[in-house]
Amino acid sequence: MQLKDCSSITEHLESLFAQAIASAFPKYSDTPVVIAPVNSSSAKFGDYQCNNAMGLSKKFKESGINKNPREIATELKGHCPSSPIIEKLEVAGAGFVNVFLSKDFAALALSNLLRNGVKPPQVPKKRVLVDFSSPNIAKQMHVGHLRSTIIGESVCRLLEFLQHDVIRVNHLGDWGTQFGMLIAHLEDRFPNYLNESPPISDLQLFYKESKKRFDEDEEFKKRAYSRVVSLQKGVPNSIKAWELICNVSRKEFQTIYERLDISIKERGESFYQSRMLSVVEYLRGKALLEEDEGREIMWPDDTKTGIPLTIVKSDGGFTYDTSDMAAIRHRVEEELCDWIIYVVDSGQSTHFNTIFKAAERCAILKPRSHRVDHVQFGVVLGEDGKKFKTRSGDTVKLADLLDEGMKRSLQQLESRGRDKVLTPQELKDAQQSLAYGCIKYSDLCHNRISDYIFSFDKMLEDRGNTAVYLLYTYTRICSIARNSGEDFSNLSEILKKVKIELTHEKEWKLAKTLLKLHDILIKCSKELFLHFLCEFCYEVCTVFTEFYDSCYCIEKNKLGEIIEVNHSRILLCEATAAVLRQCFYILGLKPVSKM
Ligand code: ARG
Repeated sequence: MQLKDCSSITEHLESLFAQAIASAFPKYSDTPVVIAPVNSSSAKFGDYQCNNAMGLSKKFKESGINKNPREIATELKGHCPSSPIIEKLEVAGAGFVNVFLSKDFAALALSNLLRNGVKPPQVPKKRVLVDFSSPNIAKQMHVGHLRSTIIGESVCRLLEFLQHDVIRVNHLGDWGTQFGMLIAHLEDRFPNYLNESPPISDLQLFYKESKKRFDEDEEFKKRAYSRVVSLQKGVPNSIKAWELICNVSRKEFQTIYERLDISIKERGESFYQSRMLSVVEYLRGKALLEEDEGREIMWPDDTKTGIPLTIVKSDGGFTYDTSDMAAIRHRVEEELCDWIIYVVDSGQSTHFNTIFKAAERCAILKPRSHRVDHVQFGVVLGEDGKKFKTRSGDTVKLADLLDEGMKRSLQQLESRGRDKVLTPQELKDAQQSLAYGCIKYSDLCHNRISDYIFSFDKMLEDRGNTAVYLLYTYTRICSIARNSGEDFSNLSEILKKVKIELTHEKEWKLAKTLLKLHDILIKCSKELFLHFLCEFCYEVCTVFTEFYDSCYCIEKNKLGEIIEVNHSRILLCEATAAVLRQCFYILGLKPVSKM
């Protein structure tokens, strides 16, 4: 009694009702099935609803047949194949078919989950490249890059869990004319750079200095330009200087990635240098480049509206556009990806729309076989609703931000007196879990498209949809089995003797909530929105709390001695923990067993 031929409850019901429509109304067999979950507060209407009768009735009317939605719903009910997951079907209201899930099915599904771990729903496998984080060398990695890093990492984890073949790419801004002045400045400041690594501690400052000279000193400017040329030609000394400069930034980025547990492969713009040459040839060959005041531009489509891409500058150099055209071609033709995801701020949406259209126009992308997404996100605002800045008005350094998070989470734990109960190591783990967890979660739990207000006070609240609330609830759930005085480590053994009971209303509600996981994961991956998963975690935690408040798992007498352990309920707790653990992993939260 498993959902073998499908991946989630909704998909299973969709296939059943598709059969019902085809058999009751063969003429309309191509009607898309509409299944919606029923709000759990209206349990009397069942758990899911098929809403197709209204639409079908309209279609009948158009062909001159009068059939009211209730009649149609009744026929759908009659033609729906029986399934182990359905307890009963009911026609209600204007013409809904309400689906009541079977408790036997739910109990079995949860036992399987406990026995085998949380398994992903089945979806068609894709080779997908996720372009995320992508900061720029010698410039500050700012909060916008932090958002891309956090969202990108979770998108990767989600898609990996769904068994896609995922390539994580850091499209580092490591190429371009700014390196000319950086190299020229390096030559002057550290003439011995070929033998001894230059001790640049503040690359931003180094950048500012070189920019100043570039703007003020004609001779320096000339030399900077000549270094761009030598870099692009691959002159060894210039390459060496460029590598040294990149290494300084690389180290800084790496510490942030390590702290946040991000894994990503560097493949910066420089990687595409030779491919830029060849994509230009390719586009010229297709006669898609046009001369425009000395530049070579490309329109995204034949109507020549919108903004064209600048493929070759008037001085013969390449641009951000050129590197993205070369990159998309590499991803499709060499990496053989069928799905490419760019996690980049909304400010670049015109750029990506133009790239996608242009790539289609020159036949790099084939809409039937490739999916491309710009996973865009809004800007980070401070608590005053203005752009996120330090008090003195500077951009916030990410390392400082993470440090501040660590400080605040320690204060939070201390205010709850946890420093008195936990060992120093446990306290440290809890502090890290909270600090990085709350920074990630507060980013992921909002619809990414809207701007979001960065507030440590808000994200460290222990109520509502916050990382703190979820992590505490998880810890509490884990402590239940631990405090039962019995060994719950071998669940398969226990399941041989104990059957999961779902008699109490709250047990049943919790079971049904947990079984929504597959639907949610599929929805998240279709739309690439992680806040659906956050909302699900929050729902699991609140429904769990309702269950725990009204259902004894462990009964104690007045002396505090355990008199009864309800094994089935503890299994429900363990199933809840397992589901949360999987979701937390995707969201980058690291739960600890004591907090
Ligand atoms: N380095 C760019 C920036 O900081 C982001 C790069 C995004 N990826 C891309 N393929 N264009 O704005």
